[in-house]
Amino acid sequence: MAVLGRDEIINYLNGGNDDGLYSTADSLREYSFGREVYLRAIVEFSNVCNKKCNYCGLRAANSKVSRYRMDVADIIESANLAAEAGARTIVLQSGDDFSYSPDRIEEIISGIKGAHDVAVTLSLGDRSAAEYEHWFKCGADRCLLKLETTNPDIYGKIRCGEDFHKRLKLLRSLKQIGYEVGSGIIVGLPDYTVEQLADDLLFLSDLGLDMIAAGPFIPHPDTPFSSAAAGGIDLSLRFTALARLLNPFSNIPATSALDSFDPEGREKGLQRGCNVIMPSVTPVSKRRNYNIYPGKNAVSVDVADSVSRAEELIRALGFVASASKGSSRRMNNVE
Ligand code: 5AD
Ligand code: SF4
Repeated sequence: MAVLGRDEIINYLNGGNDDGLYSTADSLREYSFGREVYLRAIVEFSNVCNKKCNYCGLRAANSKVSRYRMDVADIIESANLAAEAGARTIVLQSGDDFSYSPDRIEEIISGIKGAHDVAVTLSLGDRSAAEYEHWFKCGADRCLLKLETTNPDIYGKIRCGEDFHKRLKLLRSLKQIGYEVGSGIIVGLPDYTVEQLADDLLFLSDLGLDMIAAGPFIPHPDTPFSSAAAGGIDLSLRFTALARLLNPFSNIPATSALDSFDPEGREKGLQRGCNVIMPSVTPVSKRRNYNIYPGKNAVSVDVADSVSRAEELIRALGFVASASKGSSRRMNNVE
């Protein structure tokens, strides 16, 4: 495993050696995954959220959002269409919307897993460890719970008083339960420092994550961070390339937020150490309202089109859209 000191990381984050960083990250991705890129189809089934994160367009206080909740049958239908189009992982994502009871989430998991041989990832926010344990027993395979920053003070500020240690405890519980676990941060939040980003990288790498997600901050006009500067694509690409150096076998997505800066943002990510893309397969009538940041889900395509566009993007770079579920390689490859 690559060993990098904090000072070296800071130098890379400052753009000290982009060519060296990106080519090493690309070689490591190739070593760990060959030509295969994993495609994860996301069903954003509810944009209702009870939280007030200062960076996010879905925050409860934003009355301009047209809120929706998909019913169980429609969620399963979107997942099935994505699986039929070739997706081998379905990510179920929502705001912190606790109106979905554990039984309803169970119904969704069972409905999807009963119809298709796919992995199911839960991205449902701060539900209890007991609920997550129940859903694991129902067949859910993975969880995504982002820390957004690994600094407890900053966490409290950007997430409006939420407790970092509670979130971290939940993340550790998910691992204990047996899930493959993903986490990550937003790169370039207001008042960020490269020193803090270096600490984020070291902290996340210490957690032994199966997936590390990091995308650039994009100011949303209807949030308290509306007039803050955007995070920047280069900083974000450096962050994910460094995450690859520190975590050769973890899954690292080229996030959709990259595309908000550069139409080829995700392509650049895949050429710089990332090995996953996550197209939205939320129905056309809803997807525009899943407006976490400006530009999110701007393209209006149906489920099958969304999967085939993602496959096309992968092929155009000379990669192969993996036919496997893309389970974590960390377990079998102790770094
Ligand atoms: N810019 C970039 N990423 C954001 N997210 C939320 N708001 C923003 C924003 N303004 C990310 C967070 C969250 C995920 C769903 O989207 O990391 O976990
Ligand atoms: Fe809600 Fe997640 Fe947005 Fe925070 S980041 S407001 S929890 S959807």
